[in-house]
Amino acid sequence: MKKEIPSKQTLIVHDVHDERHHGAVTFPIYQNSLFTFPGMDEYERASADHLNRHLYTRGNNPTVNELEKKLAMLEGAEKARCFASGMAAISAAILSAVRSGDHILCVDQAYGPARAFMGTYLNKFQIETSFVDGTSLDAVRAAIRPNTTLLYLESPSSLFFQLQDISACAGIAHEAGALVLIDNTWSTPMYQNPLALGADLVIHSITKYISGHSDALGGFIAGKADLMDRIFQNEFSLIGGIMTAQSAALVMRGLRTLPVRMKQHQASGLLIAQYLEGLPFIRRVLHPGLLSHPQHELSQRQMSGFSSLLSFETDISLERMKAWAGHLTLFRIGVSWGGYESLALVHAASSQEGGSYVRLYIGLEEPEDIRADLQAAFDAIGAT
Ligand SMILES: Cc1ncc(COP(=O)(O)O)c(C=O)c1O
Repeated sequence: MKKEIPSKQTLIVHDVHDERHHGAVTFPIYQNSLFTFPGMDEYERASADHLNRHLYTRGNNPTVNELEKKLAMLEGAEKARCFASGMAAISAAILSAVRSGDHILCVDQAYGPARAFMGTYLNKFQIETSFVDGTSLDAVRAAIRPNTTLLYLESPSSLFFQLQDISACAGIAHEAGALVLIDNTWSTPMYQNPLALGADLVIHSITKYISGHSDALGGFIAGKADLMDRIFQNEFSLIGGIMTAQSAALVMRGLRTLPVRMKQHQASGLLIAQYLEGLPFIRRVLHPGLLSHPQHELSQRQMSGFSSLLSFETDISLERMKAWAGHLTLFRIGVSWGGYESLALVHAASSQEGGSYVRLYIGLEEPEDIRADLQAAFDAIGAT
């Protein structure tokens, strides 16, 4: 009988019995900066195979490696490497793909600091970045230049939840000899696997859903072994923005429940998005799982689920919506997302019509309580 490939949920939860650690059920925290050897011969053998052996924790650390193995399996990658933050992973992955004189094409909705890194910081190395509407394949095709070596995607984007057609974009980039790097943080590896759609490297902010408890920072890059080994030898080891063993253990604890948390986030996020869509004073709700999302059909093709960061635009003024946020009792005001707690941020709408724009992160509270909290705040400002 054909052996079933274990589901992602089982891969995350199940570890084999390991006699090296006396059968310890959780992987031990290797709290050491270096590894020593009984003699020079053993040291030299390890040193010659430094990609795989343990010499120094700013290289391989067994606790971090254990997490990297799980993350690689989840993304369907040959290898993954963990970093101190999502931005450490993003900057390392970008630097691995460019040299002076190159051009980067980046979607205009990418995460702000990633855009700043490419669009401003890298200018001092004579690397130019242009930004493109990633929803238009024609625009992407037209913006590729002879010296484009990297196409940077983020799908869905984390502010306006726009998607890019990953396999079509990868086709365009590869034809031009450019690599495709994608930020997959919104979907998590549970709901989208861009490498299978043609991307070369995928990055995540582990800080969000993967760690899931607002108590750890991290990032990872995953991809083919040759690209990942080059990153290990260069940006990973030379810049040194690595994840510590303590963080890796904390992230591993969060990761164990990612599949069950994501099911709840998906259900709660959709429930709140649909509730908001039914309110007469709300102009539009941005969530790829809604039938009204302009790219809903694409989401069905390349994603297998949805997370719970969404936004809406309303006719209500910024002042009144700031007051609305003050009436929320279950939502806290703050950046980031992916933890257990619901969060809200209110901004001025960017559209001509004025009004305000609200980003909501739907946490793990009872969804009916969240809906009631939002409604009570609308009632309190007389919106209904
Ligand atoms: C979509 C996205 N990518 C990357 C990052 C960067 O991750 P980190 O904050 O872990 O550096 C963030 C952080 O908010 C993000 O929202």
